[in-house]
Amino acid sequence: MQTWDAIRARRNVRHYRPDPVSDDDLERIVEAAWRAPSAANNQHWDFVVVTDRAQLEQLSTVWPGAGHIATAPSAIALVVPESGDERETMIDQFDLGQAMMAMTIAATDLGIGTGHSAVGDQDKARDILGVPDDHRVCYLLGVGYPAGRKLQPIRKPDRRPFTEVLHRGRW
Ligand SMILES: Cc1cc2nc3c(=O)[nH]c(=O)nc-3n(C[C@H](O)[C@H](O)[C@H](O)COP(=O)(O)O)c2cc1C
Repeated sequence: MQTWDAIRARRNVRHYRPDPVSDDDLERIVEAAWRAPSAANNQHWDFVVVTDRAQLEQLSTVWPGAGHIATAPSAIALVVPESGDERETMIDQFDLGQAMMAMTIAATDLGIGTGHSAVGDQDKARDILGVPDDHRVCYLLGVGYPAGRKLQPIRKPDRRPFTEVLHRGRW
């Protein structure tokens, strides 16, 4: 898929076919995050790939909006070190957003759907994934082939009008 098509076709997929995503494709998706830019090239991130059904079902309970992780064939957890510094935390979250977006586009390019989830219960998420206490499991990304409609460029996405968000020169 061309980059522009992948950008337009990406959407949150919360219903997946049971078919597994190959290890090669999961690695490609994480490599996209690994290649993402970060402030001062800090790379304050780690990625845990999960394909075990029991772990996925447990992860689906760490946040009310994580239900789709239970039926995804795989998920990727985005982990950062805990930081007491407000600015560092903010920048780490920005960097994580870029890594997340890179993964969603790389997945779309392969015809694979992705679905974000936040994480509420940190202790539980850390326990399921074996993440140390001084790290935070910030997000989960369900990864799997979409059940139903395939990933195709969306002509009219559910967004604020483009002319409302685009400012030229001045607000
Ligand atoms: C930071 C962030 C957190 C999100 N958390 C959740 C979540 O917990 N559960 C969920 O189902 N979707 C979650 N989403 C997906 C958004 O609801 C979705 O991206 C938005 O509605 C736009 O839809 P689209 O991605 O299909 O274009 C999250 C997205 C972002 C960027």
